[in-house]
Amino acid sequence: MKIAILKERAPGETRVAATPETVRKFAALGCAVAVETGAGVSASITDAAYAEAGASLGDAAATVKDADIVLAIQAPDVGLLKGARPGAMVAALFDPFTRRDRVEAYAAAGLEALAMEFMPRITRAQSMDVLSSQSNLAGYKAVIEAANAYGRAFPMMMTAAGTVQAAKVFVMGVGVAGLQAIATARRLGAQVSATDVRSATKEQILSLGAKPIFVETVAGIEGEGAGGYATEMSEEYKKAQAELVSSHIAKQDIVITTALIPGRAAPRLITDQQIATMKPGSVIFDLAVAQGGNVEGSVADEVVVRHGVTIIGHANTPAKLPADASALFARNHYNFLSAFWDKEQGKPLLDEEIGGAIRLTQGGKIVNERLLGS
Ligand code: NAI
Repeated sequence: MKIAILKERAPGETRVAATPETVRKFAALGCAVAVETGAGVSASITDAAYAEAGASLGDAAATVKDADIVLAIQAPDVGLLKGARPGAMVAALFDPFTRRDRVEAYAAAGLEALAMEFMPRITRAQSMDVLSSQSNLAGYKAVIEAANAYGRAFPMMMTAAGTVQAAKVFVMGVGVAGLQAIATARRLGAQVSATDVRSATKEQILSLGAKPIFVETVAGIEGEGAGGYATEMSEEYKKAQAELVSSHIAKQDIVITTALIPGRAAPRLITDQQIATMKPGSVIFDLAVAQGGNVEGSVADEVVVRHGVTIIGHANTPAKLPADASALFARNHYNFLSAFWDKEQGKPLLDEEIGGAIRLTQGGKIVNERLLGS
């Protein structure tokens, strides 16, 4: 069984899908691992470190030649995969709803595309969940970058020259990224509040020492929501939420937005009018910018200033922590494949619950229900 790791080619992508640690683990399963020369450089992993772990190094064509499995962060273009075995598995982020063309190309090429972002939210798949591992780092980094762009300090400081007030941080969307953003802002000494549409997050916000700010007049989503996810809210709820945000946001120094709805554009949570009520020097970090943005006026991979407020939008925030993000993503890949490893056949045999959820293409066809239904 040959596993191939290519250098990522998407602009701004710094991560790599395997580390020397996972190369060793795959070798222990009996796999030959091939890594494209320079694949780990931007994640601070040298070719020598891969070679020492037992990988063979070469150019893209040599890496992919006769591969049974290709692991990537972002799915490579099909053209790069010529030479892989017929029906080879490719596990990566596919962005299947917006990159339907790529899914079709994988089907036409007879490859088995496995979308890691479709991993079901079940207990046994937690260690395989790339959305969680990467969102956690993104939540942390968003606060660090916002703190860096903020012209004041986060913690309260009592000095001989006078008192520095603690920064007020508001986190919108309390999933994996939001929880880490709350924890990070608290560690830096900020006064933190947070909101979500799922009622289960209230307890979590409190347990991190932050203040929940919730719409009380219209019912939100009870408990965790379907599969841990939010859905589009009613017009009535959106109106109540807008009023709540308007009254709260003017008093905030930093706002971190993380709200996402799977398979849809991100909900718009902050309008330009609301930004205008914030103090000059405030900072907003829109973690949802790649999905259309929670904040009016945020631009992917740009820092814009509106009404004196800095709005940061990185399309790929985990890529700003390439070493840790790669280490966790690589472990997610390993945990996934090793959980299904059949020792006798020397290859992974996916089950219906997980395989059926993440498999996009097989046998020349698109086979995923979420795509067939859309
Ligand atoms: P996500 O990235 O899809 O969304 C981020 C947050 O935004 C969510 O909490 C969502 O409720 C919130 N949101 C959506 N629309 C909103 C709106 N209009 N206003 C305010 N907030 C809004 O969610 P994420 O981070 O992927 O995780 C959601 C939950 O899934 C977690 O808290 C956890 O309970 C569960 N989960 C379970 C896993 C497992 O069991 N394997 C793994 C990871 C997460």
